[in-house]
Amino acid sequence: MKRAIVIGATSGIGKETAKKLAENDYIVGLTGRREDRLMELQKSIITKTFIKRIDVCRTDDAIELLKELIFEMGGLDLIVICSGIVRPNYEVNWDKEKETINTNVLGFTAMADVASQYFINQNHGHIVGLSSMSSITYSDRTNAYCASKAFVSSYLRGLRILFNKSNKNIYVTEVLPGWVYTEMTQSADMSKVFWASTATNAADQIYDAIINKKKKIYVSRRWRILAWCINMLPEGLRVK
Ligand SMILES: NC(=O)c1ccc[n+]([C@@H]2O[C@H](COP(=O)([O-])OP(=O)(O)OC[C@H]3O[C@@H](n4cnc5c(N)ncnc54)[C@H](OP(=O)(O)O)[C@@H]3O)[C@@H](O)[C@H]2O)c1
Repeated sequence: MKRAIVIGATSGIGKETAKKLAENDYIVGLTGRREDRLMELQKSIITKTFIKRIDVCRTDDAIELLKELIFEMGGLDLIVICSGIVRPNYEVNWDKEKETINTNVLGFTAMADVASQYFINQNHGHIVGLSSMSSITYSDRTNAYCASKAFVSSYLRGLRILFNKSNKNIYVTEVLPGWVYTEMTQSADMSKVFWASTATNAADQIYDAIINKKKKIYVSRRWRILAWCINMLPEGLRVK
């Protein structure tokens, strides 16, 4: 049986992806900060699961805990890094920016690096990272979020180049959702929400990307058209 870890499995896209992987015979490691949610999810999955409370912002601890989880699971074939936050911040408040950067940049990189090193040593593996359509736009309201997702996309592409150049059998998938109905979007201005998917549909697409070893997917697929249009625009017009 293959083994997968989902970072940020307590809600939304991560939770649904964890369920989808379990349905498809993966042994799944579930992580997040809300332990009650992890236990609840573990109970609802009939196949073997492992849980570990990991706060990705506490990077040193998170690195050790992820290594521990991989050991307890007896190995790792796939990691899906879903953890992420958005903090609207017109006031340019440092605490909010710091929280976003800690979670979406430092936490993401810490988890991606542990998995990368493990996969390099065993010469196989698959890293899936949740970026966003926000990675190709700019916003005054969620500036740090957009910038953090640009980092995620860029970092994943760099890892892919590294693995390709060193002939490693490691795949990297970049996921760019537009709008997905989850806890994250609960506070969104609904007048701006369009082409929204459910978290279940997002998980189905992510699973399809895993089995087909896709490099990049848009959730839902039609966001690819908008991405193409946005990328044609001059920078000053790429405002969210
Ligand atoms: N929903 C959308 O429209 C949308 C669009 C584009 C991109 N995305 C991206 O998709 C990913 C999943 O988002 P979602 O929509 O499913 O949101 P969500 O329902 O709010 O889930 C976010 C997940 O991240 C985890 N998380 C947050 N901070 C964490 C921390 N410090 N340590 C560990 N885990 C942490 C949460 O777990 P705990 O709180 O239990 O720790 C939760 O499991 C995010 O990276 C997001 O940026 C979402």
